[in-house]
Amino acid sequence: MGLFGKDETGSVQLDRALLPRHVAIIMDGNGRWAQKRGMPRSFGHKAGVEALRGIIRHSDDLGIEALTIYAFSTENWKRSAEEVGALMGLLLEYFTRELDELHRKNVCIRILGDIGDMPKGLERQQQALYAAMEKTRANTGLKLNIALNYGGRQEIVRAARMLARKVQAGEIGVDDIDMAHFEAELYTADLPEVDFMIRTSGEIRLSNFLLYQLAYAEFYQTDVLWPDFDENAYDEALLAYTKRNRRFGGV
Ligand code: IPE
Ligand code: IPE
Ligand code: MG
Repeated sequence: MGLFGKDETGSVQLDRALLPRHVAIIMDGNGRWAQKRGMPRSFGHKAGVEALRGIIRHSDDLGIEALTIYAFSTENWKRSAEEVGALMGLLLEYFTRELDELHRKNVCIRILGDIGDMPKGLERQQQALYAAMEKTRANTGLKLNIALNYGGRQEIVRAARMLARKVQAGEIGVDDIDMAHFEAELYTADLPEVDFMIRTSGEIRLSNFLLYQLAYAEFYQTDVLWPDFDENAYDEALLAYTKRNRRFGGV
């Protein structure tokens, strides 16, 4: 086993062999980050996108196989039109600006969530998302999954509906339905198991994120607000993961 822990300068040394294959992140705290600075919430979202760039880059450098980030929940539509508009605008900007670089880095982008059912006026964002998935579909590097208009309960209900259709069409029998069939209908089909789930900003709840997939994930929470979650904070989290003892119900 290689060296891991902190070296004499205090920087984190990670044993790459022990890193998670699939990391999921609830990027939380943008609004509070902005409010602390007397700025509008959208300012925090802008800073949050910058933090995200760094975390994607670092995941890629570390050779992490899959990164799933919670960008917008099915419940986030409750926010003001101004805030939703700012978030969607940032998204479009991000995909337009970064797509070529992500593609060069062989990143494969997948959207988890119902992007076919977005409110009117977001057609450009929808197109940008479809274009990003299409362009990077065959890439074999980092699997970057963006949960957008995503709800874990909705995802599970949708999977049940898809299976019911297959039964109705005579493609499978009721008794054929097992975990493999069910998982094949989730947005995360064919991705490795989620090993590690990070939530920033001190909240300790799932907020409807990956309810099925997190069954045996290790959880990590930090008080750091998302815009401040930099590579060092990420390394700290990953270091904590490498020290966990995962038992999966065994001893
Ligand atoms: C997370 O930050 C970003 C999204 C939900 C899109 P918040 O906007 O939830 O920030 P807080 O939690 O209000 O500080
Ligand atoms: C979860 O954060 C959703 C995203 C990070 C996209 P929220 O800020 O929406 O969650 P709650 O409302 O604190 O549970
Ligand atoms: Mg929040």
